[in-house]
Order: sequence, then structure tokens, then C-alpha cells
Amino acid sequence: MAAQLIDGNALAKKIRAEVSGRTAALKAKGVQPSLAIILVGEDPASQVYTKHKINDSTETGLHATLERYPADMSEADLLARIRALNEDASVHGILVQLPLPKHMNASTVIETIAPAKDVDGFHVASAGALMVGQPGFWPCTPYGCMKMLASIGYDLKGKHAVVIGRSNIVGKPMALMLLGKNATVTICHSATPDLKAMTLQADVLVAAVGKRNVLTADMVKPGAVVIDVGMNRNDEGKLCGDVDFAGVSQVAGWITPVPGGVGPMTRAMLLVNTLEAAERAQSQR
Ligand code: GUN
Repeated sequence: MAAQLIDGNALAKKIRAEVSGRTAALKAKGVQPSLAIILVGEDPASQVYTKHKINDSTETGLHATLERYPADMSEADLLARIRALNEDASVHGILVQLPLPKHMNASTVIETIAPAKDVDGFHVASAGALMVGQPGFWPCTPYGCMKMLASIGYDLKGKHAVVIGRSNIVGKPMALMLLGKNATVTICHSATPDLKAMTLQADVLVAAVGKRNVLTADMVKPGAVVIDVGMNRNDEGKLCGDVDFAGVSQVAGWITPVPGGVGPMTRAMLLVNTLEAAERAQSQR
């Protein structure tokens, strides 16, 4: 393998240790950082994800609660619960696990969370703050990708970054974060006619499509940094990303693995955002 590995597990561990230290400092000032997670319905993946979020929080000294509601909960009741959490000064972060049941409007639900407690960074106010460079919460996955680039000392200034995928949760905020570090940014998506022509120009590639083998070795410039946000299953049922790791790792300069890459970083950045929410609330007391 030519490429060097960016180890998400190791970096996330370091970040969790930092969160533990800052949490202890905040507790010494009488503030217990606290995250409220809401899960509506029985989606199996969501049950696993929320359990991880609770465990990660507890391990780093954050207080986290999981509120579970039946799939037929009314949207009005969910909004009322969010408004009550908005008013509760002992809660610093609010996370509503997605997807929500079909009878609910996810945008309405997310926009009901107070921006100061939007630790997912999904609120339009958070998206707007990122766009204009004001303080706010960054979505955890692209935030984690930026930390991975920082961890290898990569200077994005003047580099060409190509993001494959344009979701509100990863692709678009990723592009804005890279732009904020003075990269030249291209966003590619399903209607991009010649993806390979774009990716071959990239110094940094972020694959966030949700499909296996979107990026293969022939599409990568030698030495490029490749960040794989994908979470897919291969024919043997094993976890894999959007990048053909075996091939691309022969060409790239740096590469993130799946599993053990972006996934643990996403989890770590939720802890950072929750801690930040508590620190900001404390500084305004
Ligand atoms: N469902 C899958 N990933 C996420 C996430 O990061 N946040 C929320 N709220 N729901 C999700």
C-alpha cells in the first residue's frame, strides 16, 4: 500500500480524552454538560446509533438521556417535548435521531430545536452560520473530516478539493468547511457528466455518496488525500465505504479506512459539540 492511513479510531480516542478533560473542568465550575437524545419509532439502525451516542457520552463524563417514543407519536407532541427541552437550562444539547416516521416533517422538527442546542448542526441557523463564517455548530461528519485533515497537518490553502455528494448533512457543509480553509472546491453529484475528469484534478477527495466503488484507482491523482464517508455493505455483508480501498490505497498519498475512519470521528464530534454547547451556556451565565 502506497498511501498512509488516517486512523479515525486513534484520533477519536484522542479527542474523547480532550473532551473528558474539558468536561471535568466544567464540572468543577458546577456545570454538568448534558445531551438529550430523542428516538421516535423502532428503526434498528437508529437504536444502535443512539446507544453508541449514550455510551460515548457517559464514557467522557457527559450526561446523556435517551427518550424513546412510539412510531405513532404525533408531531405536535414531539414539538412540545423539544420546546420543553429548549427551556430546560440543565440540557445543553438536543438531538432528534433521523429518520423520523413518515407522518412527521423532519425540517419542522429540526427547526424547533433551539439553535444554541443544535449539536447535530442540522438547523438552518447552523447551516447559515457555517455559510457566512459565524460561530455555530458544524455537522459532525464533515467536522470530523476536517479534524482528520488537520491531524496530518494538511494545508488546504490553494488546493483543489473535490466533494462527491451534495447532501445537507455531509456534501454541502463539507464543501463550505473546505472553502473556509481556502481550498478551491468542486461539488460533484449524480448529474455530473464526467466524474473521473473532476476527481483526477483533486488534491483532496471526499466521497460521500452512499454507494460502493464510486471512487476507483483510475480516478485518483497520485498522492491525493482520500476521505471515505461511505457506510455500505459488500457482497459478503462486510462494512465498506464508497472508495475501492484496495485499489485507491495504491495511488493515494493518504486514505481513511472503513471501518475505523470517518465513523468514529462523527461520534467524537458530537461529544465536542455537546461540550461546546455547555461551555457557551456557562460563559453566558
Ligand atoms: N441518523 C443517522 N445519522 C444521524 C445523525 O448524525 N444525527 C441524527 N440526528 N440522526 C442521524
